[in-house]
Amino acid sequence: MLNLVERPRRNRKNAWTRAMARETHLGPEHFIYPLFIHEGQGRQPIKSMPGCSRLCMSSLIDEAGAALADGIGSIVLFPALGDDKKTPHGEESYNPDGLVQTALRKLKSAWPDLTLITDVALDPFSSDGHDGIVSAEGDILNDETVDVLVKQAVSQAEAGADIISPSDMMDGRIGAIRQGLDQAGFTHVSILAYTAKYASAFYGPFRDALDSAPRFGDKKTYQMDPANVREALREVELDVSEGADMVMVKPAGPFLDVIKAVRESTVLPVAAYQVSGEYAMLKAAAQNGWLDERKAVLESLLGIRRAGADVILTYYARQAAAWLREG
Ligand code: PBG
Repeated sequence: MLNLVERPRRNRKNAWTRAMARETHLGPEHFIYPLFIHEGQGRQPIKSMPGCSRLCMSSLIDEAGAALADGIGSIVLFPALGDDKKTPHGEESYNPDGLVQTALRKLKSAWPDLTLITDVALDPFSSDGHDGIVSAEGDILNDETVDVLVKQAVSQAEAGADIISPSDMMDGRIGAIRQGLDQAGFTHVSILAYTAKYASAFYGPFRDALDSAPRFGDKKTYQMDPANVREALREVELDVSEGADMVMVKPAGPFLDVIKAVRESTVLPVAAYQVSGEYAMLKAAAQNGWLDERKAVLESLLGIRRAGADVILTYYARQAAAWLREG
């Protein structure tokens, strides 16, 4: 018999005791549900993201309503456009009758309680597949891009966006968008900044979904180096000083230490994005029978919460909400 005063296992002895000792909670209120939309008809399945589809307007309204019924209060929209709508300067991004703007108006009238989040960046609208405008030399032009992003954000606010979410990683865009929104009378529209967005290999399936892969080069001159964490804190400082309401780390799973560091460096709510590649990994292993999908997914989401995320953008939002409901 060991002479132990401390036996940590006592706090694990049964489900009720474990519940009392539990430090982190996961619920549908912690999820933001990303949805892909397209101009065509019906649901168009995305090969590299089994279970996810590009949605037409009516399937979007249905899916958003189902999410709301599942207890998920917010969605974020990503448009898949035909090449005919893509230009070097991404003018379609601020077309008042564009796909995103139209979807926002329909969603607002169908589900007034749903919080609508929009992505701000040029890649779905850019014939170069970059988040910004490309110069003749192949550089991504910062300040010229920010001008377009402000127009995009204001047009999304006009169409009913509640939260604007810039994912482009240009310098100074949070301040410029805040000012643009305020001047247009949208002081109540929030900004969820993609503050620490890394140049990650895990966005592959998303770029398939939108056909938005860069036509040349990569995104390393604007998205962050995966080797860095101090740099994330610099971005937090800037985004907070420019008027961000919430900050985001992306991807989530491979960057849990960044989530923790960001959590400790700001009082603002912290979001983390479990991106398409994280989803695809879990799905692929589950489909092969190599992982228990339910357990692995809930553990991955709990880990992101434990690291310090208040909210998680995840393609598993509805499925996870259903699993949590089952208990
Ligand atoms: C584009 C954008 C990307 C994602 C969200 N917004 C892709 C990229 O930066 O290339 C990725 C989301 C995901 O992989 O799930 N601005």
